[in-house]
Amino acid sequence: MKKQGCEIEAMGITYKISSKKREHPFKIFTKKQEINQEPKQVINLEEASPGAKHVLKDVFCRAKPWEILAIVGPSGAGKSSLLEILAGKLTPQNGTILVNQNPIDKARFKRISGYVTQKDTLFPLLTVEETLMFSARLRLRLPQAQLSSSVKSLMKELGLDHVAMTRVGDDRIRGISGGERRRVSIGVDAIHDPEVLILDEPTSGLDSTSALQIIDMLKAMAETRGRTIILSIHQPGFPDCEAVQLNTYDG
Ligand SMILES: Nc1ncnc2c1ncn2[C@@H]1O[C@H](COP(=O)(O)OP(=O)(O)O)[C@@H](O)[C@H]1O
Ligand SMILES: [Mg+2]
Repeated sequence: MKKQGCEIEAMGITYKISSKKREHPFKIFTKKQEINQEPKQVINLEEASPGAKHVLKDVFCRAKPWEILAIVGPSGAGKSSLLEILAGKLTPQNGTILVNQNPIDKARFKRISGYVTQKDTLFPLLTVEETLMFSARLRLRLPQAQLSSSVKSLMKELGLDHVAMTRVGDDRIRGISGGERRRVSIGVDAIHDPEVLILDEPTSGLDSTSALQIIDMLKAMAETRGRTIILSIHQPGFPDCEAVQLNTYDG
């Protein structure tokens, strides 16, 4: 068993996106303008607008094993962008990401990390156990008996034993509750026992009890297995609050 843990350090992260709109998204409109012979006016208006939007400016953060790092900020602050950069899904224009003091190796990092998106994307007709087994089969190369025991122990860890045989459901098909669904989503990306678990707003849209349950479960994951947990929390913001705040949860 690796007990070293995984420390992630991000330094000077600057991420810009181009806000320049495409000239004509649909060719059909171009044709009409060509007939009217006024295409140049549109180009001039677009050239006047600035071409880049700063999503993140010189951000620093450090996530340690055995701890939860919470990124707090209002909508549009850049939380998801920062998490995607930490997960190696986006590449910033500037900045360095170190994993245990070494430059990140994206391919290896994907194997040792799990990324849980804000939206639950699950098959509504599968039961909780089937959903986790599906993910286990995709991610782990183990015999069936070992896969079943990993799924069973994960369901226990996630507090999903009592709904193992219940359909996940969605808006149309009644299934498990919102909090349970969120825990299934976490399980799907934690089946391979990742050293680093990154979660985008795992508590958003949940009632306070379910949200606390999720945080307690993540806290237990960090404290008992030395996992590094990075998550974002939506903060209904102050009007003047634009910067990303980085806080550590030590409940
Ligand atoms: N690919 C993109 N295209 C357009 N705008 C984007 C893109 N990525 C991020 N943004 C913009 O960057 C800002 C931060 O986005 P995001 O990281 O999703 O914020 P948060 O998760 O804190 O709500 C938003 O204003 C968003 O519109
Ligand atoms: Mg977001």
